[in-house]
Amino acid sequence: MIDSHCHINDPSFKDHPEEYINLGKSAGIAEFLVVSYDEKSSRIAVDIAKNYSECFAAVGIHPSDVKRMKKGDLESIEKLAKNDRVLAIGEIGLDYYWDKEKEVQDQQKEFFIKQIDIANKLNKPISIHCRDAYEDCYEILKSHPVNKGGVMHCYGGSPEMAKMFIKLGFVLGFGGTLTFKNARKPKEVLESISDKDYILETDAPYLAPDPYRGKQNHSKYLHLVRDKIAELRNISAEEVDRHTTENFNRIFR
Ligand code: NI
Repeated sequence: MIDSHCHINDPSFKDHPEEYINLGKSAGIAEFLVVSYDEKSSRIAVDIAKNYSECFAAVGIHPSDVKRMKKGDLESIEKLAKNDRVLAIGEIGLDYYWDKEKEVQDQQKEFFIKQIDIANKLNKPISIHCRDAYEDCYEILKSHPVNKGGVMHCYGGSPEMAKMFIKLGFVLGFGGTLTFKNARKPKEVLESISDKDYILETDAPYLAPDPYRGKQNHSKYLHLVRDKIAELRNISAEEVDRHTTENFNRIFR
């Protein structure tokens, strides 16, 4: 399995990456994409990716972090993104759940577009964080196409919009929320798409799957997401592994 979205660069893990990686490997994880949310976490992600052959990095500024950006951060992201170990720009996008003021939302849009420009300049895909903003996100992707596509991380939109994002060259990332009892929407989405359209993720340390909901997440729990997908799509766990690995490699390599 490939964990397409985890934060080994998070303060809870960054001082012991080896311990994290070994635990993940013994639970069947072959590769980890370490996703960033600001300039500092991007530098840490690249360091981890340089030091551990199982790890790759995504660098970028999360929408909720744009208001804390410092001068020169974007230039630093672009410089880091040139590294071969960096597979994507992310996580970038829009979050209207936490930021309701129009001024802040406009700033999020501006930096989402600027980071799409970096991705296109370097010919890399993107990892999108989108919450309560699927329509604006779609409009931006339509008017600023991403050459290499990418992933809608932790997809929580409708089945109809899922098809529209897939048409633009995106796959959908599914994680712990899929295993929650009240997760009607992601289940509907997963039942409406093809085997080419989804990848696995944990978002560790966040969004631990059932029965660990509310606790610290870890890549070692990814098999719970994989098994849920197998159950919902009525295929074997091995088939989910094969499809998700192929899909990850098609987008990110
Ligand atoms: Ni994340």
